[in-house]
Amino acid sequence: MQDLTASDKYTARPVRLGEPDPYPDRVAGEFVCRVVSNDLVNESNRLLVLDAPERALGARAGQFFHLLCPTPDGAEVWMRRPMSIYRIDRPGGRLEFLYKCEGRGTLGMSMLQPGGAFNIAGPLGIGFSLEPGWKHIVVLGRGVGLATLAPLSQLAAEHDVRITAILSARTPELLMSRDFFADLGAAVIEVVDSDGSSAVENVEAIVEGLIAGGRADAFFTCGSNRLLMLMKRLGAAHGIPGQVAMEQLMCCALGACYICVRTFEVDGKRVLKRVCREGPVFDIQEAVGW
Ligand code: FES
Repeated sequence: MQDLTASDKYTARPVRLGEPDPYPDRVAGEFVCRVVSNDLVNESNRLLVLDAPERALGARAGQFFHLLCPTPDGAEVWMRRPMSIYRIDRPGGRLEFLYKCEGRGTLGMSMLQPGGAFNIAGPLGIGFSLEPGWKHIVVLGRGVGLATLAPLSQLAAEHDVRITAILSARTPELLMSRDFFADLGAAVIEVVDSDGSSAVENVEAIVEGLIAGGRADAFFTCGSNRLLMLMKRLGAAHGIPGQVAMEQLMCCALGACYICVRTFEVDGKRVLKRVCREGPVFDIQEAVGW
């Protein structure tokens, strides 16, 4: 192993693919990954595939990376952007991110070309957990929030936990990840705004049916405040536990700046928690709508 001085340990030198890792016992790190592909999956979302070192592949479902997005016009130096992992392909040595091109960070990201380099830091935060007794979980996601739920479903499938995935979007064209969830053996239910099937009352009837059929040991959600509130209400009414992955603007993503603080409800009291450090996954009953 390399001999490192104390000051070396605090030097932000990213680990490049193929280089020996100077800190093998540290979980999170800064890595320069090779871009494999960065293709559109529909009119507004892209899938970024990276060659990633083994340590980055140790990420857990629900954790995120802090991405050093290129600037689209050279005008500014970027802060990093937090993004949850879409897929961890450990045998193939790849990490995937599914993202919507809507801000300057993700617009810069959309310019990444195959063969180029991309700097990522992580894995960060606290991810999802599965209890041993759970046999059937319900995942309910909307839009790009489905990306966050994808690795959880991977984890559940690896542990023989059955999945019902309720996928919500504005239109059928914008529904993502059908095949991903179906390939994991999930029962997939699609709901969209364009035919009214994504209305809360309809989703509630679907979930009530799953509960009555004994197919809802736990709820997992991301990407919609109204769906979060629905799952929280149904979870409280039926005594079903749940977890939510919160989305939030971040600066340091390390727990230092408190930019990402949100309000939660714990034992009847309002408390502040950092989404980057205490989350981004929280108990659904602690979540407060926005
Ligand atoms: Fe700095 Fe969370 S982003 S404390």
